[in-house]
Amino acid sequence: MSIRATIDGYLKDPLTARMWAATKAAGSVRSISVDITHICNLRCKGCYFFAEALDDVGEADDDTLAEFIQREKSRGINFVTVIGGEPSLRPDRLRKLAKAFRIMVVTNGLRSIPREGLEDITIAVSMWGDRATDRELRGYGKIDIFDRALKNFAGDDRARWYITLPAKPPAETVEVVDACVANGQLVAFNFYGDLQGLGDDLSHAGGFDPAYRFVDRMIDRHPQAICMSRYINEVVTSGRMLGESWGYDVCGSVSVDAPQNAGRLRNGKSYNPFFNAYGPDLGEPRRCCVGDSRDCSTCFDVWAHLSWIGMAMEKHLASHADFFSWLSTMTVFYGACGLIPAAEFTEMLPRIHARSKAHSGDGAGSAGLQQREYASVGI
Ligand SMILES: C[S@@+](CC[C@H](N)C(=O)[O-])C[C@H]1O[C@@H](n2cnc3c(N)ncnc32)[C@H](O)[C@@H]1O
Ligand code: SF4
Ligand code: SF4
Repeated sequence: MSIRATIDGYLKDPLTARMWAATKAAGSVRSISVDITHICNLRCKGCYFFAEALDDVGEADDDTLAEFIQREKSRGINFVTVIGGEPSLRPDRLRKLAKAFRIMVVTNGLRSIPREGLEDITIAVSMWGDRATDRELRGYGKIDIFDRALKNFAGDDRARWYITLPAKPPAETVEVVDACVANGQLVAFNFYGDLQGLGDDLSHAGGFDPAYRFVDRMIDRHPQAICMSRYINEVVTSGRMLGESWGYDVCGSVSVDAPQNAGRLRNGKSYNPFFNAYGPDLGEPRRCCVGDSRDCSTCFDVWAHLSWIGMAMEKHLASHADFFSWLSTMTVFYGACGLIPAAEFTEMLPRIHARSKAHSGDGAGSAGLQQREYASVGI
């Protein structure tokens, strides 16, 4: 059967058809990542930006930024993930990017982000584990950044939470998720790479099974608010997708214009054909968004895994359950980035989670939530 005919068969299911229509209406996303500044008002323990010395590169001047924006627009780029350093320290630069692209700004939440000129952006507010972990790793053992962030973004419909989970999340992390939901916002998760070797429950060495179970439980607890698919939770925490193992050779978030990736781009594995990761100088792109020479076995970055899944639609056509896993992941990602109208997305989200739970129970599909028995090996 042709690809089109196979997809048409799956689209007879109304929820699948809705997700397909919503992602098609959003259009194709051509994304890059930009460190808008090398400066930060925190020094979180294990932050890859400082661990990889990405702040060695100073900020571009205004003319370079203007030229950069023009160049990326002419490449057809329409989406920028703005990281750093701390982007809230540079609202003037955020406005320039927001005029030209759809932007997702990732912030530590310590400062609010003004609305003027930034009305339509999406904001991901970071939090690490439970309050005690966050205070210890990000707040110098004493500052409660989370409380400030809750206040700064209360009722801000541009904001979502981006909670980085250690391998074994403390039980109190549930209260953090509840507080984010009570703040009126969606919640997504990321996974902590223990780059400083802090060990114990923070270490990724023993695998992420407890973190996997935590996210799955949070989806059941707040199906209307958790904007992460069960499938990407499975893929990131297991490091497996359809028999492939995660790593540099399959990572789709490698810069296409970084010379060091030339071999990777020729290895026959998919990659995002427009993606580049730019440091604060906006010069030559570096290898990927989280480093130039970072050890890929420490990388559990959800956004990087997203492109691994995103580029593999055809591999997910073997069954409706597999296709649902793929499409729900893309739909939830698009919704989290504000690329699907909010009302439509929030109506669809709990139905997507309910269906993916049913798929995981019915034994259907080779991709959908079937991999854990062999999965944690090798992390
Ligand atoms: C480098 S920060 C820059 C943006 C902003 N300063 C912030 O903290 O949100 C980008 C993202 O990487 C995450 N991050 C940094 N180091 C990490 C690590 N070792 N493991 C997992 N996520 C990490 C942060 O939590 C944040 O969500
Ligand atoms: S706030 Fe962000 S950039 Fe700054 S140290 Fe923490 S994770 Fe790194
Ligand atoms: S560190 Fe992560 S994002 Fe970077 S190339 Fe390796 S796997 Fe990809």
